[in-house]
Amino acid sequence: MDRTTPVVFLHAFPLNADMWRGQVEALRGRTTLAPHFPGFGGRPTGAADLEAFARVVLADMDAAGIPRAVVVGLSMGGYVAFRLHAQAPERVAGLVLADTRAGADDDAGRAKREAQAERARREGLGWLADTMLPGLLGETTRRERPRVVEAVSSLIDRADAEGVARALEAMRERPDSTPRLAEIRVPVLALVGEEDTLTPVVESRKIAEGVPDGRLVILPGVGHLANLEAPDAFNEELGGFLNRRA
Ligand code: MLT
Repeated sequence: MDRTTPVVFLHAFPLNADMWRGQVEALRGRTTLAPHFPGFGGRPTGAADLEAFARVVLADMDAAGIPRAVVVGLSMGGYVAFRLHAQAPERVAGLVLADTRAGADDDAGRAKREAQAERARREGLGWLADTMLPGLLGETTRRERPRVVEAVSSLIDRADAEGVARALEAMRERPDSTPRLAEIRVPVLALVGEEDTLTPVVESRKIAEGVPDGRLVILPGVGHLANLEAPDAFNEELGGFLNRRA
């Protein structure tokens, strides 16, 4: 990892790769890739599992001429980053795992995904933004950053029902990546908003402590969508990580 290593950004659910605009802009001059996942603007894949999402990202890296990159994944993007590393560790120069968890869903979480996938197919997505916003954004952002609330709502509005249903099923079926943490032999930054209730600080601490070379950063006044809620702080931590071995 050095000042020229490309950076691949993997987005959260139910957003799309445009959530990374501020980071792509901050890293101009460096090669970056921010693909939309299948069902969120990306090209469809036959299989609805996160292994397939990771395979599509690897193919996108091939197409962009990126043999190896620092992979930045937020939440669902982090789940995919774990699968990508499992499939092709040699393609990963470092990992930024933001507001995510290594573990799989518990039974209650799986049942909730099932119900939401069924609802998306039956009713469409009129309910999705209102249901998700309180979890996606920290209380400080919901109180004090109306423009972030608006921006996230319009990212969610671009989702389509079948894409959402398939992503929910893919997340429901994802394996536990915890046993693989010790095998991640590249630098890892586990970054989390202090007010993240979906993937709380304890989950990022487990990642940072489970990998051989991990660092935990907690951003105050920030919830689950850390890069959108506090772009300056996020970019500073990302920049520090990318340049630490330079
Ligand atoms: C996300 O932000 O990608 C989702 O909240 C992840 C999840 O539902 O587990």
